[in-house]
Amino acid sequence: MATMESLIGLVNRIQMACTVLGDHGGEGMSLWEALPTVAVVGGQSSGKSSVLESVVGRDFLPRGSGIVTRRPLVLQLHKIERGTEYAEFLHAPRKKFTDFAAVRKEIEDETERVTGRSKAISNRPIHLSIYSPNVVNLTLIDLPGLTKVAVEVPNCIILAISPANQDIATSDAIKLAREVDPTGERTFGVVTKLDLMDKGTNCLDVLEGRSYRLQHPWVGIVNRSQADINKNVDMMAARRKEQEYFETSPDYGHLAPKMGSVYLAKLLSRHLETVIRQKIPSIVALINKNIDDINAELDRIGRPIGTDGGAQLYTILELCRAFDRVFKEHLDGGRPGGDR
Ligand code: GDP
Ligand code: NA
Ligand code: MG
Repeated sequence: MATMESLIGLVNRIQMACTVLGDHGGEGMSLWEALPTVAVVGGQSSGKSSVLESVVGRDFLPRGSGIVTRRPLVLQLHKIERGTEYAEFLHAPRKKFTDFAAVRKEIEDETERVTGRSKAISNRPIHLSIYSPNVVNLTLIDLPGLTKVAVEVPNCIILAISPANQDIATSDAIKLAREVDPTGERTFGVVTKLDLMDKGTNCLDVLEGRSYRLQHPWVGIVNRSQADINKNVDMMAARRKEQEYFETSPDYGHLAPKMGSVYLAKLLSRHLETVIRQKIPSIVALINKNIDDINAELDRIGRPIGTDGGAQLYTILELCRAFDRVFKEHLDGGRPGGDR
């Protein structure tokens, strides 16, 4: 049997198609909304960018103070077994980036192409794929500011980032999560900056779920400090240092295997895959509804048609049929290639 594409990879492709071709949801829920995603939320300087970079194992996000993310960044991570890691943007499909400083520059340039040099915010996403042996299959969305709209969608998994040196219960991330997900079933709580807590205090009440209860376990993180960033401490070295921090910590040693950015990435990847698997029947139903809607639209405008709009509908139709086939293969009991 041919290797089956991982479910997360498949959903990635549908999301890209929705972006390129427009989301043909018709009435009711759009296809994009039906697809589970992980959105990163947290207050300014809580460590969102640092967590994303740590999960990737690369340094590639624009830096600066104030609101740096001005367009949603859809970050798709694809695990490859071997070879050089590289990045690709949906808006420049034929260009392979192996220099991650150039990736940062391209995110900045592409943001400005749409928002101009003003500090305006746009809801048009930038899609970035990273292929690397150091990642797990995972899709994460970095949003500009604390946008409630995106995380209100029930299929959105919330990665809520709070710094350990502030009161968790009143952190921006937890305030938002409490509002949109009061039962805590789709929120993953992350505590950053454990290394910056006052001497003699620790974060065990939070990490062990006593301060604020979520259905999923909390994960503690130690990212690079500003001094580390200034010294250009390598991300892979930072990951090792983080692991060491937990293993040798008198407070957190007993939790070490379930702490840190590598564990967080695995936890999210596994969860995302499970959620997608549960949603396959409803995704297939939506894809079929799209196929019906498009067929009706094609009948209405009469086929065959030479117009651009008609050609685009045919393209979407073809894609929907292809997705439908692959999803059904998964439904028929296949295991995704990514699981091996
Ligand atoms: P964002 O605004 O939420 O994206 O936050 P950043 O990831 O840009 O982090 C803001 C600042 O906090 C940077 O100077 C980081 O180096 C620092 N920082 C983030 N996480 C940690 C951490 O776990 N420990 C330490 N010491 N510094 C951190
Ligand atoms: Na916060
Ligand atoms: Mg940031």
